[in-house]
Amino acid sequence: MSLNWPLTDTTFLQNESKRLSSLTIDTGTTKPSIKVLDQLLLPAQKKYIEIKNVDTAVSLIKNMQVRGAPLIASVAVFGICMETFVNAGANFTKDFLLSAIARLIETRPTAVNLHNVLQRLLKETDGLDGIPLIEAVRNFSFKELIDEAKDNRQLCWNGVQTISALPRKHADGYTIMTICNTGSLATTSWGTALGVISGLQDRKLLRRVICLETRPYNQGSRLTATELAHQGIEFRLICDSMAAFAINAFDVDAVIVGADRVVANGDTANKIGTYNLAIVAKHLGIPFFVALPYDTFDFKTQDGNAIVIEERKDDEMRYFNGGLICEPNTPVFNPAFDVTKAELITGYISERGFHTTVGLEELRVHATNEARG
Ligand code: MRU
Repeated sequence: MSLNWPLTDTTFLQNESKRLSSLTIDTGTTKPSIKVLDQLLLPAQKKYIEIKNVDTAVSLIKNMQVRGAPLIASVAVFGICMETFVNAGANFTKDFLLSAIARLIETRPTAVNLHNVLQRLLKETDGLDGIPLIEAVRNFSFKELIDEAKDNRQLCWNGVQTISALPRKHADGYTIMTICNTGSLATTSWGTALGVISGLQDRKLLRRVICLETRPYNQGSRLTATELAHQGIEFRLICDSMAAFAINAFDVDAVIVGADRVVANGDTANKIGTYNLAIVAKHLGIPFFVALPYDTFDFKTQDGNAIVIEERKDDEMRYFNGGLICEPNTPVFNPAFDVTKAELITGYISERGFHTTVGLEELRVHATNEARG
């Protein structure tokens, strides 16, 4: 399939009131104010918190008040950007930038977007210090947001093209299963897998969404279900263990998931449970797609065995909604992500098009040439 289906339809995904914003910007007269939605409080409370500096960005990411690979990267960039306004930027030197980047990269190891965007920032500010460095950081941060908005609509469009080429079980539209949260709460745009779903809804091609609750952090029930309801999309929330049964019960046409890192051979790190879902989809003959921005590719890593999987605190599993659900010292295993083997994946949808693992090689060569300048 050819790369790049240019999006020329200016009506596609234009209704911004349907999008729950993860990030707000007030440009202000002297300095901007950037706020992010505290996702730990959702769906009960909608509270925005200001990104004041690098410290706030680090703590927001570590505490999971913001999450989702693309949003983590944006919050990190704006943590650095806002630091240029602290004390009129007097302490904002190249050394400060380097130490800020090192601290931010450590916050969550699996999602590669964070690493990729900060590497681009480093390249952009190469050889600069003082006022030119500050200006370059500010320009870079705001340009990233504008680029993401544009690229993301193209990604969603490419997803609609990909899905609408599939046969469907019901004439009134596709039934799509998804896991975790990959929508406007995981990005500063419409989202990846959930962005494609929004695109299908926009084009009146969607029958229903089956959304996995996504234990133990419940991004599915707390965030995705909230976004789907906000958009008026017909959906059912299910427990993760119901996926196989629900694929048959609801005549699911395809599974679409996001990604935290897709490596050179196509192996894909994403929310824990994705691998199970891919195996189930393969067994039941359902196509399984990964939707991702180009920044989620990591062509330097050859295969999924080399991906560092973040393990989170035991108590995240021992407690549910503040209540203990097992003996307090129960030994647990709590990986935040798993790795789905490329052979289980039908294809990858990015702003650059639809790619199979063969198409990934083409993208890799392109990425290498870009890096060489
Ligand atoms: O632990 P999280 O909530 O940050 O995990 C998020 C995911 O796994 C998403 O699927 C991924 O980041 C893609 S988001 C567009």
